[in-house]
Amino acid sequence: MTSELITGIAELTTNDPERQRMNDAALVIENGSVAWVGPAAHAPSADRVTDVDGCAVLPGWVDSHSHMVFAGDRTAEFEARLTGAKYSAGGINSTVEATRAASDDKLTTNLLRLRREAVNDGTTWMETKTGYGLDVEHELRSARIASEVVDDVTFLGAHVVPTGMDADEYVELVTGPMLAAVRPYVSWIDVFAERGAFDEDQSRAVLAAGAAAGLGLRVHGNQLGTGPGVKLAVEFGAASVDHCNHLDSADIDALANSDVVATLLPACDLCTREPFAPARQLLDAGVTVALASNCNPGTSYTTSMAFAVTTAVLQMGLSVDEAIWAATKGGATALGRAEGPDAIGSLVVGARADLQVIAAPSVTHFAYRPGIRLTEAVWKLGIRV
Ligand code: NIG
Repeated sequence: MTSELITGIAELTTNDPERQRMNDAALVIENGSVAWVGPAAHAPSADRVTDVDGCAVLPGWVDSHSHMVFAGDRTAEFEARLTGAKYSAGGINSTVEATRAASDDKLTTNLLRLRREAVNDGTTWMETKTGYGLDVEHELRSARIASEVVDDVTFLGAHVVPTGMDADEYVELVTGPMLAAVRPYVSWIDVFAERGAFDEDQSRAVLAAGAAAGLGLRVHGNQLGTGPGVKLAVEFGAASVDHCNHLDSADIDALANSDVVATLLPACDLCTREPFAPARQLLDAGVTVALASNCNPGTSYTTSMAFAVTTAVLQMGLSVDEAIWAATKGGATALGRAEGPDAIGSLVVGARADLQVIAAPSVTHFAYRPGIRLTEAVWKLGIRV
């Protein structure tokens, strides 16, 4: 077992509730975990020393919402939106067609490409969803491929009703044979509870079946209009409700009185021209907020968590600390991984040593230097990648 001292840190974001950021700091990594954090002047010795020479260090991004097992391209749909077309759930079926037609190799290569992109941008933990297979064979294949590449896999058979199928029959397929097939590869279930996708009763059936199968619950809700997403997430004690663009005060109150995380997806809001989620109102009401990339070919074709942070600060009214927390510990909370010996999203003693060094003295540069890639080096489980 070797230890590594990272020193010369101008500003260290720990996400420790007592001191989110500290200056002139150092940390020691041992056995994949953070073993010591404190002032550089008091750092213990270690087998190896890395001096980051006045850079800032923060936890790696925890991207808790993406849809990265897909093939095909939707540039034309995106272009149509630029001239006023509205996003609707229907576009998902074109990606389903391309995904079903692609080889395993093609899907894996695309997923690895996106993961590489994300890691280069500072992401050290990725969730991804199935949802472009929409039959037993192809959902199973997506779940298997995802489980070979990312850290958390979510079953999203209930993404949209596939072309030509009856909605209720499809829900029976999702909650029966499809769920049974993917179960060994996934730890979460999700449902797109939205007009054009699944209504309240259908969404309830999906969440109930997932819970009965021992899966954690997530909900896509309130993206395109007001609807039952938040209500269902709270009723079922889901870990997270994602999107949250169209909330009424009852939704915000319900979230504030629950442990459900509101996961906000700023790149998606921009690319679909939906109003931003009411981040400031959610935070002021006491709701736990996460930020994620929502990387997918339809609504948010980016893996950049830095972009989400920059947008959250410059356009959604979050402070730098709130945005950094939401993209690290917030994501970890949305995945039920923020506490305990293998915690992610923070750099406190005992947490996983998943971290990034940025070419700047402070995380404020994510807002101060918009559009500039700052991540310079990444450690995952204590190993530089
Ligand atoms: O989170 N809203 C549902 N699912 C994705 C979009 C998927 C697509 O359009 O391909 C989302 O934005």
